[in-house]
Amino acid sequence: MPNPIKLTSLTTKGGCGCKIGPADLDQVLRTLPPAVKDPNLIVGLETGDDAGVYKLNDTTALVQTVDFFTPIVDDPYDFGQIAAANAISDVYAMGGTPLTALNIVAFPIANLDKSILADILRGASDKLREANVTLVGGHSIDDQEPKFGLSVTGTVHPDKIQTNAGAKPGDQLILTKPIGVGIYTTSLKRGLLDEGEIANVTKVMATLNKVASETMQRYTVHACTDVTGFGLLGHATEMARESGQEIVLSFNDIPVLPRVRALAEAGAIPGGTKNNFDHVKGNVTFSEELDQIDQYILADAVTSGGLLMSVPKAEADALLQDLQDNNIAASRIGEVISGNAGHIQVN
Ligand code: CO
Ligand code: CO
Ligand code: CO
Repeated sequence: MPNPIKLTSLTTKGGCGCKIGPADLDQVLRTLPPAVKDPNLIVGLETGDDAGVYKLNDTTALVQTVDFFTPIVDDPYDFGQIAAANAISDVYAMGGTPLTALNIVAFPIANLDKSILADILRGASDKLREANVTLVGGHSIDDQEPKFGLSVTGTVHPDKIQTNAGAKPGDQLILTKPIGVGIYTTSLKRGLLDEGEIANVTKVMATLNKVASETMQRYTVHACTDVTGFGLLGHATEMARESGQEIVLSFNDIPVLPRVRALAEAGAIPGGTKNNFDHVKGNVTFSEELDQIDQYILADAVTSGGLLMSVPKAEADALLQDLQDNNIAASRIGEVISGNAGHIQVN
């Protein structure tokens, strides 16, 4: 039953409900006093990694992350599922096992049917069950504009943490979901998608990175991150910079949602995507064949995207096959070279 209220139309004036851009965030964080040094903090703010990791003892570290946003689809149940899959993803990207979650809710409780909120929470709760994550609580505020997300806690062995910093020359890069999600969700708000396309992008976003992460942990993966708000180029640039390597991407091998180019040409490029592009363009060399639209697609802000893994060449074929055998639409999209640290080439 389609809900009569279009959740994505409830955005109030100002802001886009998207992630604050990397440039703005850098400016704010730079003004903070240096954090207190704690020897147990293994992964903190500095590396732009997916989640914080805090060592409890020699065999266990906590993985903690939080994510929330305004509705990106109109169906409340789907929105809840996507928000949960997205929030848990940062634990999977670190090679961790998610254990518990807390809901974060903002909702206009006096003006919107309470069943909408119930559906959002039911979507999240079903997704948490699929991930074997226990909901332990949450917090809600009455707010004009709906927002939803979760804080997720997991564990990882301190020696088995996947960060974005370990990529080595010769590694192959594997991506486990298509990009173009930001252009799709902007198109959805503008009524440019048909039912099948809405169902397709919803399924992509609601798919857990659980199996991808568990599969990856059977191989020697040197670095991993999930592709989300900063886009493929943004997260790849962070990996290249933190690893001190250069990354070469092959445009034609990068999986993109169907009709993304046409939707982008129709103007459905989110502001966040343009900000992402402006932030990374100084570190990226594009093939002459790639025009501005192609370049925006590569920088497109993703919600609940796939894992980007850097894997030694000798294991890349086997990992790719293993992922595909597990029904993951994984692709080899490029490689790591020693060269200009933090630089990306797109061929
Ligand atoms: Co992430
Ligand atoms: Co995140
Ligand atoms: Co990571």
